Amino acid sequence: MIKTEFLNSIKSELETLHEAGLYKDEYEIVTSQSANIDIFHRSTKKHVLNFCANNYLGLANNKNLVEIAKKSLDEYGLGTASVRFICGTFDLHKKFEKKLAEFLGFEDVITFSSCFAANGGVFAALLDAEDAIISADLNHASLIDGIRLSKAARYFYKFDDMADLEKKLQEAQKHRNRLVVTDGVFSMDGDIADLKKICDLAEKYDSMLLVDDSHATGFIGANGRGTFEACGVEGRVDIITSTLGKALGGAGGGFIASRKEIIEKLRNKSRPYLFSNNILPAVAAAGIEIIDMILASKNLIKKLADNTAYFRKKMVEAGFDVRDKNGVHPVVPVMLGDALLASKFAKIMIEEEGIYVIAFSFPVVPKGEARIRVQISAAHEKDHLDRAIAAFIKVGKKLKVI
Ligand SMILES: Cc1ncc(COP(=O)(O)O)c(C=O)c1O
Repeated sequence: MIKTEFLNSIKSELETLHEAGLYKDEYEIVTSQSANIDIFHRSTKKHVLNFCANNYLGLANNKNLVEIAKKSLDEYGLGTASVRFICGTFDLHKKFEKKLAEFLGFEDVITFSSCFAANGGVFAALLDAEDAIISADLNHASLIDGIRLSKAARYFYKFDDMADLEKKLQEAQKHRNRLVVTDGVFSMDGDIADLKKICDLAEKYDSMLLVDDSHATGFIGANGRGTFEACGVEGRVDIITSTLGKALGGAGGGFIASRKEIIEKLRNKSRPYLFSNNILPAVAAAGIEIIDMILASKNLIKKLADNTAYFRKKMVEAGFDVRDKNGVHPVVPVMLGDALLASKFAKIMIEEEGIYVIAFSFPVVPKGEARIRVQISAAHEKDHLDRAIAAFIKVGKKLKVI
């Protein structure tokens, strides 16, 4: 039985979160995910422009993709009703994995119900107590949790400090195998990891390299292959983990790309794969078409890059503290510092200006670095960007941020 004191302690913890501006409130979206959405919050429906989805290529409500998914629902039904190795593998899963592997230039791909599941299941399956993981300190929570599940020794380096990475690699020389782990893009800041230098060091110290490219697959790099393409290190990254939940359509799903032996081992040893259902057949069907779309045209990748450059430039000109003024990633963090100020700013943007943005504060970002993380999308038109910029300026002046 749940004791009253236990519930009371939870209530007081939640109150503390509210008071500190750290409480994560949720708005319900009552339309499909796109630039224009309707949200429902505390019994009020509101039309807003969406600047906080990871819908990088704007594909989440693409009509053709939805039609393909519907057709696959007719043919394959809702789901697998089983894990992959029992009887949950459709031909669509295999086709999609093959397509992703070809697109990324890797030998094989394995899908998971999410990238969180992929990251949760990759380390323990591949490494044991004789091995070492050297992880960037700002890595995504799913990498941190996945690493915790493995018995390998753990080393942490400051994500952008190559001297620190080298030091940790030297310390880790005593282990049998080494695996450097980094986000391709650090999503709270939009920083792209310096994979060229990381590859050089990993090779110098005989280490493997895993990159989580969730905020890059589909749109970073000349062909949208990801950070390894943007950094010119194709063939030098050993393992890519990524999500289907952002640029690649926005549905639940994740995957790992690597050498065929690694993927084969993951199919046999990775627990979130062995003991959990996989992606919906409809997601695999749409995913195959998404890769074909990216291969056929770079228009969406270009539109996203142009939108990002425009928004970043205008916000800097308006006097906002945009993290990394020379950044190119569509994650645009508008730094506000104080958590209460950030949550107040976002609330006014949504409720008074109709611009849906979200404040991020501790523990998602370091204390004192609260921000509004703007997410630019290829679904945005110039008019949307201008309306968001005007609202930022209005609220920024009202709250004396600029
Ligand atoms: C860097 C990174 N890795 C993994 C994930 C988890 O992805 P998924 O939603 O597919 O579990 C996210 C999602 O926020 C992410 O940003």
